[in-house]
Amino acid sequence: MSESDFTPRDSFGSRFGIIAAAAGSAVGLGNIWRFPYVVGENGGGAFLLVYLIFIIAIGLPVMLSEFTIGRKAQRNAIGSFRKLSPGTPWYFVGMMGVAAAFLILSFYSAVAGWTLEYVFKSVTNAFAGTDETGLNLMFGTFIAGTWRPLFWQLIFMVLTAWIVAAGIKKGIEKYTKVLMPVLVLMIIILCIRSVTLPGAGEGLAFLFRPDFSALSADAFLSALGQAFFSLSLGMGTLITYGSYIGKKENLPGTVVQVSAADTIIALMAGIAIFPAVFAFGIDPGEGPGLVFITLPNIFLQMPGGYYFALIFFVLLAIAALTSSISVLEVVVAYFVEELRLTRKMATVFAAVMITVLGVFCTLSFGIMSDVSIFGMDFFNLMEFTASDLLLPLGGFFIVMFVGWYLGSASSRKEISNEGAYKLAYFPIFMFLVRFVAPVAIALVFIYGLGLLRL
Ligand code: PFF
Repeated sequence: MSESDFTPRDSFGSRFGIIAAAAGSAVGLGNIWRFPYVVGENGGGAFLLVYLIFIIAIGLPVMLSEFTIGRKAQRNAIGSFRKLSPGTPWYFVGMMGVAAAFLILSFYSAVAGWTLEYVFKSVTNAFAGTDETGLNLMFGTFIAGTWRPLFWQLIFMVLTAWIVAAGIKKGIEKYTKVLMPVLVLMIIILCIRSVTLPGAGEGLAFLFRPDFSALSADAFLSALGQAFFSLSLGMGTLITYGSYIGKKENLPGTVVQVSAADTIIALMAGIAIFPAVFAFGIDPGEGPGLVFITLPNIFLQMPGGYYFALIFFVLLAIAALTSSISVLEVVVAYFVEELRLTRKMATVFAAVMITVLGVFCTLSFGIMSDVSIFGMDFFNLMEFTASDLLLPLGGFFIVMFVGWYLGSASSRKEISNEGAYKLAYFPIFMFLVRFVAPVAIALVFIYGLGLLRL
């Protein structure tokens, strides 16, 4: 028996705390920054439909699988596989997850840094007196800079590390319990403002009316990558969080609540953004700059715009923070439990390594923009490798592990809290994790990477 079997682990203190932390992880830049621009780049409604199908058929079973593994093993992402399948190579899935955490947080912190700059711009009323061209230029000049984006990235990483270093109950849970409700309130206010803009209908039609001719082969891979990214799946984040969930909590209930919250907030972000995109004649396929250019433009043209801008960028920064802590926690939990570092040391160590990688992501919009690896700049390489490759691949192995290695009896025992819940739908879950999810992931993967043409 290892030493850690005798050290009491930190855990979440309340049911609301679990939901706040897990939903805090899921709801982030992925919903408010990435979702609208990925939908925009992939043609709107039809992409949304594919995305929603992936959430239900793949996302839900992967999420429940992650919680099951984590709660059963009570360990970090790598340690969980080691404990549940000693002497097998399954722990490799956990290692892939820790690697993905490094890549994700490197580009995530770059964008999160932009949100802080935009909070600053909102406070100082920097959007006043500009127009769309001015906002475009403002964004372009800012991200192409060196010190300013790096400064904000560093501040963001310090904030993330500070919360993670404080632990689960006194750090992650304490902050997400306050920040998440604030976030929900803010996005509701923004949606109401946006749908009452003149000409909101066209944007809503783009988002909700499927046009299947706009769907390309790689749209499926993007939808899958987005589903994994948005729900925080495939890299052991929810294995790690699952390991802090008490044995009496209802896992399937948590999964449904977290996924519903994540999806509703992504849709609300779409509802807040697309009407504005169309009202101001902006190209919905604009890319990563979409929210940073589009929204200040609406704020400029509306009464009280100063406050709405401030609300929005604070919201984005909060959403980013409650997600980034969950990514960092994957690495920290591993360092603490397997490498025996103190939590503080582990946090500093992980945050520094990630920040170094992150510097390259930030600079790839500026002085390193000419550096191309496999035809992508550093930022895109990190984003594509992590979201579209590592996360779905991790998800594939996670469902295979639960479906085929743990198997029905053992999974049922964990999910039903040793039989306390009846779980009438358990066979459906088993069918999804054994067949539907792995086959779907494999197909999308092969098809999306161009290895197969249908
Ligand atoms: N789900 C987060 C978002 O939508 O912004 C990002 C993320 C967090 C991805 C945690 C992956 C992860 F493990």
